[in-house]
Amino acid sequence: MCGIVGYSGRRPAAPLLFAGLQKLEYRGYDSAGIALLAPDGIHLEKNAGRDGVMALEVLGGKIDRLPAAAIAGIGHTRWATHGRPTDINAHPHLDASGEFAVVHNGIIENYLPLRERLRAAGYVFRSETDSEVAAHLLASHYSGDLAAALRGVLAEIEGSFALVVMSARHPGQLAAARRNAPLIVGAGAEGEFFIASDIPAVLKETRDIYVLEDGEMVVVADGSVSFTDFAGNPRLKTITKVTWDAVAAEKAGYEHFMLKEIDEQPQALRDTLSGRAAKAGTIDLGIGADFFAGVSRVAFVGCGTAYHAGLVGRELLERWARLPAETAVASEFRYRQPLLDEHTLVVAVSQSGETADTLAALREAKKEGARVLAVTNVVGSTAAREADETLFTWAGPEIAVASTKAYTTQLEIMALLAMFLAKERGQLPAERVAALLEEMRTLPAKIEDILARRERLRELALPLSRTADAFFIGRGLDWAVALEGALKLKEISYIHAEAYAAGELKHGALALVTEETPVIVLATQQALYEKTLSNVEEVKARNGRVLAVVRPDNKELAAAADDTFLLPQISDELAPIAAIVPLQLIAYYTAVRRGNHVDKPRNLAKTVTTE
Ligand code: M6R
Repeated sequence: MCGIVGYSGRRPAAPLLFAGLQKLEYRGYDSAGIALLAPDGIHLEKNAGRDGVMALEVLGGKIDRLPAAAIAGIGHTRWATHGRPTDINAHPHLDASGEFAVVHNGIIENYLPLRERLRAAGYVFRSETDSEVAAHLLASHYSGDLAAALRGVLAEIEGSFALVVMSARHPGQLAAARRNAPLIVGAGAEGEFFIASDIPAVLKETRDIYVLEDGEMVVVADGSVSFTDFAGNPRLKTITKVTWDAVAAEKAGYEHFMLKEIDEQPQALRDTLSGRAAKAGTIDLGIGADFFAGVSRVAFVGCGTAYHAGLVGRELLERWARLPAETAVASEFRYRQPLLDEHTLVVAVSQSGETADTLAALREAKKEGARVLAVTNVVGSTAAREADETLFTWAGPEIAVASTKAYTTQLEIMALLAMFLAKERGQLPAERVAALLEEMRTLPAKIEDILARRERLRELALPLSRTADAFFIGRGLDWAVALEGALKLKEISYIHAEAYAAGELKHGALALVTEETPVIVLATQQALYEKTLSNVEEVKARNGRVLAVVRPDNKELAAAADDTFLLPQISDELAPIAAIVPLQLIAYYTAVRRGNHVDKPRNLAKTVTTE
């Protein structure tokens, strides 16, 4: 999730590229850079932020160092995944000769073997990024034709990418390709072309857009544009006229960032899994097994949604790895004088990596000699810097206050961590791990199936928008998801929503259930299905209105409920990753119907840096 912009035309490129990057800053702001094609070669300026000044602002102060007359170039604003947010890791990346420059969005999954091979052949790497391999590969494949060299790169790299490349040997030419990462071409006046990851980057200059599909390439040069597939076969493309205003374009046409981020979950899950799960059933967390050696207890800490992810982590860890685990709200954990020692692993979960209470819990754990693992979405965040080890979610920037894609990717990390430890401890057979990893690969498609049925969820949200209170119930992992579903509803719709362990309802809260009370029931856990069914009967006996989120084979429960939403078939342990998605959409549509400010709900902040 970074921002890319390229330009080839007749006007000075630097200010156009910089203006485009400013429009893409929301996609990543760790570092920024511009490379220009000038008659004497490629000129590059790139940097991370400095002393509290944002990376793009720093870059803006150096723009006049770039050749003003250059009329082609590429720019990038980065959301770090592989490698910290530093000047060196900023894009564009050059090959060793400085004759080729690339910008890249996405993740090159096989960058490690490619880097080894290139290093062995004498290529010198400067950065820690996966993207730099593309620059060296481009140089290695070049024999006079830039597009052919790019095709050579595409034949070797695996993963997701939007790549734009240029060479000092081809003034005015840009070549680009995409797979699982967006890329568009804007046709400007008088034969000028823009290439960008997102429409907002070019909207000030043109509304005539070609949208690249996966597996397509484009070459722009000397006022012409041509499209091919990766094999070089021509592709005919037509211009789409963009009618959105600039603000809508930033959200890629979505009304709210929250909905955009809900829709980004399949890709975020693919990216987070990428490079970590091999087909053979091995898991590579990028952390040596010795870090976990001798761990006899695990404590997950976090706030809000991150705490809810930790609840799933605890259950999976105990179930699969048979390792004692707890999950604590960070603001409680830090003050309760928890029993910690060098055999305790504290997992600090935080999207931002900057939440004050989570950082305080992390520091308390370190002070007491525990090992600390951070799970965060932000490379270079305080949590990532202070923890002993870090597992990043690669969800990309999350802008809406209500967390969605950060949560599902945190759940993916929880599952990988639990599986990894289960394997290390000999608690989960290799075949079971391989099967689970295979199922994880199918999750994005299952979530796409849920997202495709959003109209049904919009209908289901209708009665909710008129209610004052709602209950979410479930057992086991369903209870953890119920807590997150209730949080989503309350924070953006302002409806009082409470999550209960389904078996606990009759011990008090059932007194509140009347025909006016929607009760959302989650039933994905097969071992607990009959019990959950009985709890539904209890609610129905009090005339409560039941909306059941169930698996296709849960026929009795579906029949007992007033409304149902069917989840795709999925194993119990991975079900939370899919089961939350309908609840996110129900909360979203309810808030929209109530006319609330969905992305910035009242009284809340995206990152809570105070206690
Ligand atoms: O950045 P963090 O994950 O540490 O943030 C923790 C909570 O503030 C956050 O998850 C909050 O609960 C969300 N607004 C929920 O949608």
